Amino acid sequence: MERRSLINITLFGIVALLSISIAKADDPYKFFTWSVTYGNIAPLGVPQQVILINGQFPGPKLDCVTNDNIVLNVINKLNEPFLLTWNGIKQRKNSWQDGVLGTNCPIPPNKNFTYIFQPKDQIGSYTYFPSTGLHRAAGGFGALNVYSRPRIPVPYADPAGDFTLLVGDWFKASYKTLQQSLDAGKVLPFPDGLLINGQQTRSTFTGEQGKTYKFRVSNVGLLTSFNFRIQGHKLKVVEVEGSNVIQNVYDSIDVHVGQSLSILVTLDQAPKDYYIVASTRFTRTVLTATGALHYSNSASQVSGPLPAAPAGGFHWSLQQARTFRWNLTANAARPNPQGSFHYGTIPISKTFVLANSAPLINGKQRYAVNQISFINPDTPLKLADYFNIPGVFSLNSIQSSPSGGAARLGTSVLGATHHDFIEVVFQNDENAMQSWHLDGYDFWVVGFGSGRWSQASRKNYNLKDALTRHTTQVYPNSWTAILVSLDNQGMWNLRSAMWSRQYLGQQLYLRVWNSAQSLANEYNPPTNVLLCGKAVGRHP
Ligand SMILES: *[C@@H]1O[C@H](CO)[C@@H](O)[C@H](O)[C@H]1NC(C)=O
Ligand SMILES: *[C@@H]1O[C@H](CO)[C@@H](O)[C@H](O)[C@H]1NC(C)=O
Repeated sequence: MERRSLINITLFGIVALLSISIAKADDPYKFFTWSVTYGNIAPLGVPQQVILINGQFPGPKLDCVTNDNIVLNVINKLNEPFLLTWNGIKQRKNSWQDGVLGTNCPIPPNKNFTYIFQPKDQIGSYTYFPSTGLHRAAGGFGALNVYSRPRIPVPYADPAGDFTLLVGDWFKASYKTLQQSLDAGKVLPFPDGLLINGQQTRSTFTGEQGKTYKFRVSNVGLLTSFNFRIQGHKLKVVEVEGSNVIQNVYDSIDVHVGQSLSILVTLDQAPKDYYIVASTRFTRTVLTATGALHYSNSASQVSGPLPAAPAGGFHWSLQQARTFRWNLTANAARPNPQGSFHYGTIPISKTFVLANSAPLINGKQRYAVNQISFINPDTPLKLADYFNIPGVFSLNSIQSSPSGGAARLGTSVLGATHHDFIEVVFQNDENAMQSWHLDGYDFWVVGFGSGRWSQASRKNYNLKDALTRHTTQVYPNSWTAILVSLDNQGMWNLRSAMWSRQYLGQQLYLRVWNSAQSLANEYNPPTNVLLCGKAVGRHP
């Protein structure tokens, strides 16, 4: 205890220095020290090397309240560089804390970096995970739950309890083997299993009969969508990545890679144990993970057949996605109702059409966006931008719509203007599911359609009650359109949430720029900023 408070006092000194311009004094501070190590466990029965945080797999749950100041010291005890990113935390004015290789130098082995950030005006279920290499295939991920401030009520009765379910596909092979195979230009094999909180069959959640619980469900996998269901129980979706949604009731729910949502479940059945099931979607071989919903007064174990996955495929999934809508009268993190932001009336200032592809480049499998397959420079783009270091990237090194031609390697940065309101169309001409994530923002998912998007596709957009989220799926040979209000200056990663695709180039950066430089729009680098590449020796 004493040691902990000493660290806190030391950190508090740093915080005072770092955050004068960042945090409002009235927002509470929460301190964490996370030690990242290798471990050896056997989630699928075969011992393998994994990544632990404070000895845990998955990593510790990071619970906080809207606007808390998180001071989180990550100590890298691996023998390779490491970074964590906070999936869905918008890092307002502060891409310095985003934890991806375009904004941060990785934490060298046996060094540490203290992230300081605020989930500003956010609520909801999120996750964090390692953004470096294929570390995510080894663990290092966890839940990040942002609770509403007490004076901002949630649009449902407070649940009796709160469960976190991190569900994802898993490989028996070590992440190093998987990474070597990608480096050699091969695609990832099909995963070996599906896990719920690191377990294939054993996760148990206990509640009292008659009460209602919140289940925070996230897809922390690398490749596959899953369907989630609970034997004998209805699922009421209340929140999707920070949006309070119309509270529809479902038998089962599809969750795509990188996505999160919150569900209410009432324990309204006879007292026994019920199966909790996740199973992969749209895959020839179906991987299944099971857990148990245990009534505290239950005397019998789970039994009977597992509840079935939906019979429908992509179309079923798309129809379900269209039912996730903003509750216009509900507030989210702020007192004003979500519907008071009439996003459908804002003129679009620019359209980007981003088409993914899976080309061979120099005989190796790569993934590309508008024919550019992204490679990370040694100097983070954000540092190159701040220090005016030439030769790291050039703006508009990628076309704003696909123009054909041969794919090539490059460091793609799309230029955009602060306060613009943009439309991004994810065009998926591949016969494979996609999941796209944007850092720094949430965005309105206004349309899903099949085939090629055209301007005429806009007439079917939902301009009234689409929800905002940070990660959207794109079905095979289809498109998804999003609208983004560029209110967050910085350098933001736009990437495939499917990690082998991201690793092999299906990503880019969106540089949201304001020529009038002001700390009101974007913070300076923190005083503990790590420097690497051509930024070594610079003074922030
Ligand atoms: C590493 O941790 C120490 C405290 O344990 C802290 O003083 C230092 O600022 C941290 N380094 C960085 C780069 O955040
Ligand atoms: C929408 O939110 C309001 C709170 O503002 C709540 O009372 C209502 O039940 C919600 N409606 C639906 C359909 O979820």
